[in-house]
Amino acid sequence: MMRIPFLKPRGRDYFLEPLAQSDSPAVSRLHQEDFHRPWTDGEFASLLAQDTVFGFVARETGRGHEAPAGFVLARLAADEAEILTVAVARSHRRQGLGWKLMDAVLRELHRQRAEALFLEVDETNAPAIALYRRFGFSEVGKRPNYYQSATGASGALVMRRDLR
Ligand SMILES: CC(C)(COP(=O)(O)OP(=O)(O)OC[C@H]1O[C@@H](n2cnc3c(N)ncnc32)[C@H](O)[C@@H]1OP(=O)(O)O)[C@@H](O)C(=O)NCCC(=O)NCCS
Repeated sequence: MMRIPFLKPRGRDYFLEPLAQSDSPAVSRLHQEDFHRPWTDGEFASLLAQDTVFGFVARETGRGHEAPAGFVLARLAADEAEILTVAVARSHRRQGLGWKLMDAVLRELHRQRAEALFLEVDETNAPAIALYRRFGFSEVGKRPNYYQSATGASGALVMRRDLR
């Protein structure tokens, strides 16, 4: 896939490209910022080695390859897909990167003729839920006490979006 450049307000300039196994250490560092049980670079590398798994990374133009601004990882098996994780670094949020990353996954899934996309999200994660609802996801289930953290347990919402 080609690089997709795009220009944001405030003069920040980003591009998306497919996530590669060599991005594993950097994306696992980014994942650590936000998730109570972060995935190791080995876990990312072994996910990315699977044929069914793909993703995209957003980088700020001119900043080298070390620090991705955001990334998304998805899996497509048969004709159903799942968002495994999506994260944007704090200093790069609210500039449309989460949206661009999700949009890149949707385009790829349309290309592959997938039928539906699922995800699980912590029911207390308002920013992510807002993003997903704007993307046309709706709630199809709930898993109580799914996420455990130092501050207690919270449930997961299971969300789905039709792709056809
Ligand atoms: C969720 C996340 C990926 C959004 O990334 P982002 O790049 O800031 O999102 P965008 O700028 O593309 O936002 C797109 C839309 O989502 C919604 N949204 C995003 N962040 C929001 C927030 N903090 N509060 C309310 N709505 C929000 C808005 O509708 C926004 O559109 P707008 O800016 O025009 O109002 C980011 O907050 C993040 O990495 N969070 C931590 C990791 C995480 O929770 N991942 C998801 C769980 S798997």
